[in-house]
Amino acid sequence: MINLGIIGAGRIGRVHVESICTQVPGAKVKTLADPEIDGVLICSSTDTHASISIEAIEAGKHVFCEKPVDHDIGKIKQVMSALEKHPVKYQVGFNRHFDHNFQAVQEAVAAGEIGQPHIIRITSRDPEPPSIDYVKVSGGMFLDMTIHDFDMARFLAGCNAEEIYVQAAVLVDPAIGEAGDVDTAVITMKMENGSLVAIDNSRKAVYGYDQRVEVFGADGMVSVSNDTTSSAVISNANGVTGEKPLYFFLERYMQAYAKEIRSFVNAIQEDTETPLGIVDGLEAVRMGLAAKKSLEEHRPVKISEI
Ligand SMILES: NC(=O)c1ccc[n+]([C@@H]2O[C@H](COP(=O)([O-])OP(=O)(O)OC[C@H]3O[C@@H](n4cnc5c(N)ncnc54)[C@H](O)[C@@H]3O)[C@@H](O)[C@H]2O)c1
Repeated sequence: MINLGIIGAGRIGRVHVESICTQVPGAKVKTLADPEIDGVLICSSTDTHASISIEAIEAGKHVFCEKPVDHDIGKIKQVMSALEKHPVKYQVGFNRHFDHNFQAVQEAVAAGEIGQPHIIRITSRDPEPPSIDYVKVSGGMFLDMTIHDFDMARFLAGCNAEEIYVQAAVLVDPAIGEAGDVDTAVITMKMENGSLVAIDNSRKAVYGYDQRVEVFGADGMVSVSNDTTSSAVISNANGVTGEKPLYFFLERYMQAYAKEIRSFVNAIQEDTETPLGIVDGLEAVRMGLAAKKSLEEHRPVKISEI
């Protein structure tokens, strides 16, 4: 039995407690202070992730850390150094790798079913913005929300990004702009394998959580649509209607959250690599910081500048 401690019992902390209790055999939740802890899940606010990671690593505990590891590259590198000295398991919470739809797309691309990928399109729109208090400590939309899409681009392309260019605006709520952030963005990237990526983000899609990807390649295309409660389509004299997308991350990704923790527990039990390590956490943050720089300086930014 793998005993896990959880730090932070807000929205995402509660998600992980529920999935471990109901869907992760072989693991149970204990308290952090208990010396019998094998691993910890860090679900507290982002500004605490790096320091708690280092404390846990130095205490020899395996760590699952919610995204992002930190907003600061220097602090992420301190986590890397701690891991070099104390080689425990470390996994970053990029749950979308474990989503059934995105896994199927990645597997098709990796198997060569669409040939060399040329264009990757990622649509990622939330149904409603977070609170302004959350926005203020989130590090901004690119490091808080788009970071999942940056990670998705790496996952689907199978390589790092080379260059990024951002257009962004405050179109949803002026209070987000007053807090120094944006709520709407179109981002283009060139990946190291030459493929081009287009990401579009909004903090408010009135019809629900809009999470779609498409990869177009030399020999074809693979795409997924949103998950819905059912695939029923009603056709009548008023028109043709179907269900809205599942509401938000709790509804859409609950299976993925359980799968990511199963993979973390499995890596501990089998003494194997975690599927998403500190380097994945670092690269996504570099992309987020490059996006911020692109917006501030109105120019394309090379990832190597970060
Ligand atoms: N993977 C995902 O889909 C996903 C979704 C939401 C949030 N997150 C990430 O999870 C983290 C938390 O987000 P949230 O939405 O749950 O926020 P939240 O504000 O709802 O919860 C954070 C909790 O951490 C607690 N906390 C703060 N500092 C602490 C400390 N030093 N020790 C222990 N607890 C502490 C707070 O009291 C709060 O209860 C963020 O880093 C966010 O980016 C990830």
